[in-house]
Amino acid sequence: MDIRIGTDADRRFILEKYPYTSQVMNQGGYLVVAYESHEILGFSWAFRRKISVSIDKTEDFVNVIEVFKDENRCKGIGSLIVQKCINIAKENGSYQIRAYCDANNQSSHMLWIKNGFAISPVKMENGQIVGSYVAYVL
Ligand SMILES: CC(C)(COP(=O)(O)OP(=O)(O)OC[C@H]1O[C@@H](n2cnc3c(N)ncnc32)[C@H](O)[C@@H]1OP(=O)(O)O)[C@@H](O)C(=O)NCCC(=O)NCCS
Repeated sequence: MDIRIGTDADRRFILEKYPYTSQVMNQGGYLVVAYESHEILGFSWAFRRKISVSIDKTEDFVNVIEVFKDENRCKGIGSLIVQKCINIAKENGSYQIRAYCDANNQSSHMLWIKNGFAISPVKMENGQIVGSYVAYVL
């Protein structure tokens, strides 16, 4: 298993094979891919931005992380991708990594918990929990 920063060709391949990823894989971010036997098994797309309060620090926000096939899930591939994102963000001097998961996405919550992220549920005015921001200080 090779976990590496994705190339333009990897990006084009993912967009072509999984067109819905165009909604989450925008300009100005970076791709991480899990690659084995000439196949991309999973990927993440993250972008770096200034934390929008009066501190001079950046965060890497993971827009999407996915292991494509069910049969490849729960084998640690998602965690390898998360760890690669952590290393990249650290090397670039970011303060934290964040992501968002929908309230009903248990596997996503478990992925972030497994990798030591704090879970902050988002509560609407009507009391409904819509999801969670997850965060890891580097
Ligand atoms: C979220 C996702 C990327 C995780 O990838 P993965 O390769 O399965 O992750 P890992 O194997 O490293 O870790 C997942 C952990 O969650 C646990 N888990 C997964 N689904 C679970 C569930 N429904 N209930 C309880 N635990 C669950 C696994 O057992 C594993 O923990 P363990 O190793 O301690 O047993 C994958 O499930 C996926 O692609 N989901 C669809 C896309 C998605 O929802 N992405 C996130 C939002 S952008």
